[in-house]
Amino acid sequence: MSGYENLLSEVQEGIAVVTINRPKALNALNAATVYELDRLFDELAQNDAVKVVIVTGSGEKSFVAGADITEMRNYSAVEGRNWGKLAQAVFSKIENLSKPVIAAVNGFALGGGCELAMACDIRIASEKAKFGQPEVSLGIPPGFGGTQRLPRLVGKGRAKELLFTGDMIDAAEAYRIGLVNKVVAPAELLDTTKALAQKIMFRGQIAVQVCKAAVNEGLDVDLDSGIAYEAEVFGLCFATSDQKEGMAAFVEKRKANFTGK
Ligand code: HXC
Repeated sequence: MSGYENLLSEVQEGIAVVTINRPKALNALNAATVYELDRLFDELAQNDAVKVVIVTGSGEKSFVAGADITEMRNYSAVEGRNWGKLAQAVFSKIENLSKPVIAAVNGFALGGGCELAMACDIRIASEKAKFGQPEVSLGIPPGFGGTQRLPRLVGKGRAKELLFTGDMIDAAEAYRIGLVNKVVAPAELLDTTKALAQKIMFRGQIAVQVCKAAVNEGLDVDLDSGIAYEAEVFGLCFATSDQKEGMAAFVEKRKANFTGK
């Protein structure tokens, strides 16, 4: 995974750590970085050595401080729409990657940064993290999925307050409203996130993938359709070695040794 200017990536023991790396602009997302994310997530999807992905920002100050304002400030309406659509597609790719993706939010997660974190499956925040959708202060609404994913995560009323005011909230408040799963000391952020990744990695990987797909699929359809989808994928899992191994291990009172097959 080389040839990236604005991203760092490393894979160790099944966990890929992707770091947005434009520290001079607080890791703001310009188009080049979004194209790189697109390419990198294609690689991660294909790489069998990668079981779980962590996304974070470089430095201590910022996860991602939004879309790059200097780059988009003179966009026309058409360019603005295309920019939104590009990032929306990449964030959907992240959301629908068959492997779990965890955001380790180390600092500012504003605008497109908050939207990137919300496209991940789980968010762990440092005590220093700050969240917000400040777009209205720039005369635009969020354009990378924020108007859709924020209410799905925190509810309509809280989402509208954040969207209408553009206010920033700290990690404790983000935890209180359900925007993040956990808050830890800055020095513990990566280790805590890796420990969670590791725990997930040692479960049946197909089952984890199916859980992810069923939750994502189900939230976009009515309950009966979601339940019907669950029944299908639940049944299919009985055709896997992991199901045989998982249940054999329970009966034999030993730890399961899943192969992801
Ligand atoms: C471009 C950015 C940037 C951004 C920070 N920088 N955020 N550049 N785009 N989103 C740059 C600054 O210009 C500055 O560059 C350097 O990073 C350090 O930032 P400072 O402002 O000096 O730091 P500080 O005073 O600590 O303030 C931090 C901050 C502030 C509160 C995060 O930078 C800020 O408000 N940033 C913008 C946040 C924002 O509005 N994000 C939403 C963007 S819109 P120089 O060269 O001066 O050192 C968006 C919409 C997505 O995301 C949808 C589009 C379709």
